[in-house]
Amino acid sequence: MYQIHQNILKWYSINGRKNLPWRILHDKYKKYGSENDLRRLKDIDIAYGVYVSEIMLQQTQVKSVLQNYYFQFLSKFPSLQILSMANEDEVLKAWQGLGYYTRARNLHKSAKICVQKFNAKLPYDIKELKMLPGIGEYTAGAIACFGFLQAKAFVDANIKRVLSRFFSLQNPNSKLLMQKANEFLNYNNAFEHNQALLDIGALVCLPKNAKCNFCPLVKHCSGKNEYEKFHIRKKIQYENIVLKILIVQKNNKLLFVKSKEKLYFNLYNFLEYKNEKNAIYIGEFKHSYTKYKIVAKVYFLKNDYFKDNDEHKALSYEQLEHNALSKLTLKALELLKKSVYYAI
Ligand code: ADE
Repeated sequence: MYQIHQNILKWYSINGRKNLPWRILHDKYKKYGSENDLRRLKDIDIAYGVYVSEIMLQQTQVKSVLQNYYFQFLSKFPSLQILSMANEDEVLKAWQGLGYYTRARNLHKSAKICVQKFNAKLPYDIKELKMLPGIGEYTAGAIACFGFLQAKAFVDANIKRVLSRFFSLQNPNSKLLMQKANEFLNYNNAFEHNQALLDIGALVCLPKNAKCNFCPLVKHCSGKNEYEKFHIRKKIQYENIVLKILIVQKNNKLLFVKSKEKLYFNLYNFLEYKNEKNAIYIGEFKHSYTKYKIVAKVYFLKNDYFKDNDEHKALSYEQLEHNALSKLTLKALELLKKSVYYAI
């Protein structure tokens, strides 16, 4: 095992993504960060910076988190204390476009709990971390290891693939995987070991076309000759739906409803088109969200007499800038802006 650990660390020192901002928060890893990134992370609590990254990375690609969200979120909410004092709409606004908004709501709730119970810090103890909303086994382990430099193992989808192949495990359950991850852990350098496993999963041990020639584990990997056998991909069952959207313009404002549905809960959406007489069809677009493949047909109604109710909220274009809109709503808005009916 010693040799395997050395191979992993050597591979990481050459090929690892050591400069990712959430990996340069500890003093000893600052040497890998650019001046600009280090300046932006200057006063960020380490465990908090790791926590935000792990939540964002759960269902979003590194590239998108890096480009549009990580620094922006931390500059708006540089500490748990400040995050806890924000209102939910502000947090959702900073999350706009990332999807899976429950993540943002849970982050916000956790911040409040940490302020009340843990002196505005994340708890050090894994059991306590796991009691916070949205923090499961994986995220708790990642915060403990990457945030607090504890020698802890954890398993995400990438590490699962790497370990399944390395130990040739078919459909392992999470208990077995955790056991293997613990056996495999490098207790002398868990931080780099675990970051390396994430990178091996993301860059080398790919679901299809794994690049075994570039893998530091290849010598001892029992699955390398049949690697697909040790990682069966679940086929996502997509659901096709047609959504009819009604954009109502009233007194130079647009009408929205706050979604009560779980998917887009508390985000502003346009109304649903229900054969309103004078509405004009302005086009359609495709959109994917979680398991839904959506064809959205958009109708526009300019009607200062449209009967609105308490559930409707009228927002001016200026106000829209400050409210969280789903990507779906933003796309519908784009369609309106391109149409001949847009005249504000
Ligand atoms: N995905 C989850 N955690 C990550 C990390 N620390 N670096 C890169 N991708 C990740």
